Amino acid sequence: METDRRRNPLFGPNRFKLGIFSANCDGGLTMSLAPDRWKAEWADIAAMTRIADDAGLEFILPVAKWRAYQGKAKIYGRSFETLTHGAALGALTRRIAIFCTVHVPLVTPAFAAKAMATIDHVTNGRAGLNIVCGWNQEEFDLHGVTIDQDARYDHGLEWFQIWSKLLAGGPEFDWDGRFFKLKRLQTDPLSIQRPWPAVMSAGFSPKGRDFAAQAADVLFTNLTQLAQIPGVLGDIRAYMAARGRSISVFTMSHVVCRPTRREAEEFFHYFAEEMADEEGQEYYRRMRGTTVGSGQGTIARLFDNRFHLATGKRYAGGYPGAFPLVGTPDDIAAELAAMSEAGLAGTSIAFLDYLKEIPYFVQEVLPRLERAGLRGPVAAE
Ligand SMILES: Cc1cc2nc3c(=O)[nH]c(=O)nc-3n(C[C@H](O)[C@H](O)[C@H](O)COP(=O)(O)O)c2cc1C
Repeated sequence: METDRRRNPLFGPNRFKLGIFSANCDGGLTMSLAPDRWKAEWADIAAMTRIADDAGLEFILPVAKWRAYQGKAKIYGRSFETLTHGAALGALTRRIAIFCTVHVPLVTPAFAAKAMATIDHVTNGRAGLNIVCGWNQEEFDLHGVTIDQDARYDHGLEWFQIWSKLLAGGPEFDWDGRFFKLKRLQTDPLSIQRPWPAVMSAGFSPKGRDFAAQAADVLFTNLTQLAQIPGVLGDIRAYMAARGRSISVFTMSHVVCRPTRREAEEFFHYFAEEMADEEGQEYYRRMRGTTVGSGQGTIARLFDNRFHLATGKRYAGGYPGAFPLVGTPDDIAAELAAMSEAGLAGTSIAFLDYLKEIPYFVQEVLPRLERAGLRGPVAAE
């Protein structure tokens, strides 16, 4: 099969990939009442995306959300829908991969095939699909859809098989499966990327890992400290071996980068501890607990970052499962290098205020990563 994905920087030469996560929603990647938190104004999203594009970051990744987390900050109450967000940002950018996060129970595979092909043409081959199978039933109530906890990844896999077969092209086909009975499937245009656009999946459970090993190019997962990486990667590699495929693994980080370590740690303490939205955090734990349950002690380990471990404080205004990259440009570059050394292929990054904070990251951290051999200079368009 043809595999022309040359224009998608997700498959580019940088050894350690970076992208922006969750800027399409208010609150971004925090559960904080800090008044200077991200408001998700469109003009700010567009301006921040242009900076990321010019700096050669690999991707923009939005979250798919349909209801605010309850609590005081009500983060995610405002969110831009990711396919339309992707089409718009695609038209505004030149290099960066534009991901769309799709809840598979809410969008038919044929709709998503057409939407992703549209964005792939708008961007000339820079579109990406982030497949999520859903975990928060309260978000799905708004659509009248019930999440089947046991079957959600089986459903997702069948969805992916149809979506990818459509974009691979070929004669019309019928589909008679467990979840879908569909007639005369075809789509035109096909995607520019062959056989289909880049695929990520975001998951943590064993089934999520097995799904990624079968369907994705990249698995996005939660790691909150370096010590967790070898065990999690070892487990994911076992799924890859069983499925005979190799995928990359990325994690999700929150960045507070300041000239001194003290400033960075004080700022993290300010928004994540002093201004924590404890009620929002409780809501998350409650809803998430119904999906991931006690499997692998996941809820507890989502909060096991170095700040919590050192102080016993909850830092509940940070996002559960986010790796805190908090320190000077040297500290952050060293931590990213350690992630790479441990076998991760990339991370998403987020900031309390993306637009205000990304220039310093670009100016100070990216050159250090270049010097460390993890990234090269910005590629030509
Ligand atoms: C980087 C990242 C992005 C995610 N984005 C979304 C999202 O946009 N919408 C959503 O409902 N879930 C999202 N999730 C949640 C996952 O899809 C998944 O449900 C969760 O990590 C629990 O794992 P499991 O489903 O394998 O149990 C995301 C997770 C990660 C790690």
